[in-house]
Amino acid sequence: MRLDRLVAKWAGTGKRRTRELFESGRVIINGQVGGDGKILVGRFDQVQVDGVIVQDEIPRYVMLHKPVGIVSATTDTEHRTVVDLIEEDWAPQLHLAGRLDRFTSGLVILTNDGRYSESLTDPSRKVGKRYLVEVDGEIRPEVISAFEAGMWFAKEKVTTAPAVVDMQRTTQCQLTIFEGKHHQVKRMFAKFQLRVIALHREAIGDLELPDELGEGEWIEYSPS
Ligand code: URA
Repeated sequence: MRLDRLVAKWAGTGKRRTRELFESGRVIINGQVGGDGKILVGRFDQVQVDGVIVQDEIPRYVMLHKPVGIVSATTDTEHRTVVDLIEEDWAPQLHLAGRLDRFTSGLVILTNDGRYSESLTDPSRKVGKRYLVEVDGEIRPEVISAFEAGMWFAKEKVTTAPAVVDMQRTTQCQLTIFEGKHHQVKRMFAKFQLRVIALHREAIGDLELPDELGEGEWIEYSPS
């Protein structure tokens, strides 16, 4: 929104009175005098008029190590949620940039910045999500080839982007996928009669779950 419109809306002033506020240097944006007010302001720009805060929302970016059993949601009537783990007054403003199933552990990103979360979850951006997966049988070469070729999901009528498989043991691999379809990893293995018995998200794009972050712990970070 344009700065002068934001100020006019907040102050309930008409055009002339709003212009006067700018001309007399009473509007401050991010610590600087607001000029003629014809610049665009974002949600996280700090705006003051006569020292009174008009908007001052702090962008929040949180990496959380989700334990098994916690729900990837902002509220839940039955179970504790990832937001419940962040005991801060600003936690209810956060939303998730991609969910994990209740019995999956690992990296969850929470933010109040919708553009940022979209940049991580929009499938067209092809952000990789790397999982450590343990299954109840041998991961045979045809499974790896199928994952690397991309898999047809009839329910969504899509072929997944080619995944990256890095075998750790015969029953365990690191798997990087580029979408976030419902139960995607479990469904990929289920096509080969393999059941996922442990699933842990290690990374989202360049963001690695820090080793020092224990289960249930979280840290704030800056995307830059
Ligand atoms: N795939 C799954 O099946 N579950 C998750 O939590 C994430 C990816």
